[in-house]
Amino acid sequence: ATLTPFVDPLPLPKKIHAGHETVRIAMREVRAKFHRDVPETRVWAYTDAADHSPNASTPILEARSHRPMKVEWLNQLPTKHFLPIDYSLHGCGRELPEVRTAVHLHGGKSPSSEDGYPTDWFVPGKSKTCTYPLAQDAATLWFHDHAMGLNRLNSYAGLAGMVLLRDDAEDSLHLPGGAYELPLILSDRLLTKEGQLYYPTSGDPEHPWVPEFYADSILINGKIKPYVEVEPRLYRLRILNAANSQFFALALSNKQPLQVIGSDQGLLSQPEAVPMVLMAPAERLDVLVDFSQSAGQQVQLRTGLTDLMQFRVGAASAKAAASAMPTALRKIEAIPESSAIVTRTITLDEVRDTRQNPMMMLLNRKRWHEPVTETPKLGSTEIWEFVNLTEDTHPMHLHLVRFQVLDRRAFEPFFYLNYKQRKYLATAIPPEPIERGWKDVVQCPPGMITRIIVRFDGYAGKYLYHCHVLEHEANDMMRPFEVLA
Ligand code: C2O
Ligand code: CU
Repeated sequence: ATLTPFVDPLPLPKKIHAGHETVRIAMREVRAKFHRDVPETRVWAYTDAADHSPNASTPILEARSHRPMKVEWLNQLPTKHFLPIDYSLHGCGRELPEVRTAVHLHGGKSPSSEDGYPTDWFVPGKSKTCTYPLAQDAATLWFHDHAMGLNRLNSYAGLAGMVLLRDDAEDSLHLPGGAYELPLILSDRLLTKEGQLYYPTSGDPEHPWVPEFYADSILINGKIKPYVEVEPRLYRLRILNAANSQFFALALSNKQPLQVIGSDQGLLSQPEAVPMVLMAPAERLDVLVDFSQSAGQQVQLRTGLTDLMQFRVGAASAKAAASAMPTALRKIEAIPESSAIVTRTITLDEVRDTRQNPMMMLLNRKRWHEPVTETPKLGSTEIWEFVNLTEDTHPMHLHLVRFQVLDRRAFEPFFYLNYKQRKYLATAIPPEPIERGWKDVVQCPPGMITRIIVRFDGYAGKYLYHCHVLEHEANDMMRPFEVLA
């Protein structure tokens, strides 16, 4: 049965100011109410450790650039997992404790020891305190599980949350704040008749891994098709795609364009009006929407033809302050290609079994545990080109750094596979206007070579890069890199 849309108010997560004292976040099993007509669902969540409610939800952390954020992550989960573990995956053997967590601050410029390396997991009853220097620009960051072999299940169980990092440059723009800034965290779930989480399996009990899936219950801040009452004025939406493998094609039902002001690593140089945005897993979008022309109306946020949520715009009133759409946001200097001292070519590969089912996804045909091959020097600039030999778009993510997208160019994958040579099919196309800021995830479409330019700033040490389709990452589309001092 389809659920009645727009009966639940959009939950607005509690905000915790991080920066002075240590923030204590407990991972716990709690009950969530996804919709008025769905029974309570067992989930795992990052909760305020002081909140002992059985329905506790995940707060948003607010932090300031250059002010270190200290978080104690407490694993208070049960010792048994409730989703189907694939013990055949690398790093996921039966000899290990069944519940393991590693917390990664996605988009954070963090020392390797604080970064949540997949094998730095800890078990129920343990905790880990991390200090994030946050010596970086204002941006929408997020935290999620990264435990080797389990993070797609842990994230699906609910272990994800948002960090709003602010700075003076952003403050000076006087963007809509407080009640006029709405965080929107998108994810997707499959539910059983009883309203419990269902994670799909291949049907082979020895290898339950599935290469990806698209669930039909889409949650925004933990609700299915919620509504929110807004005033007829300008709003700022902080959107995160926290789904395992689903992309969202976001648009407004009244055809009003989305004014995109920022992406993964903060503000663009200027707002870009777009009718639709395709958001890959882990990407963030900072959007302004002016509801002043929609007073008294209802506007739906959609993905394709599916409504995700509803904005109920109040009647026009004199007091509705019209905050103006800014024209310039932040200066973004393009990194010159000539400054790159190394160009690395990374193939995105799919390995199929004898029945042509995907068996494994790889980077440069290498598995995670093989020796490190990418060793950029601290402070140096490199170009990385992702050569996509598969039929999917892969959102590639690098830890530690921010980067700029250079271009994408169509090539002939079969020729490449057979002769190890490139045959380009067209000239290179520049990034979309909304990709012309700082990014940490880049969509790599099939049949394309996608190039990014990166400065390896910050810290020496061991990090990783991977596809952010969590099913791909687990098997084995994830590789280490090491920044050398
Ligand atoms: Cu969202 Cu390895 O990260
Ligand atoms: Cu992928």
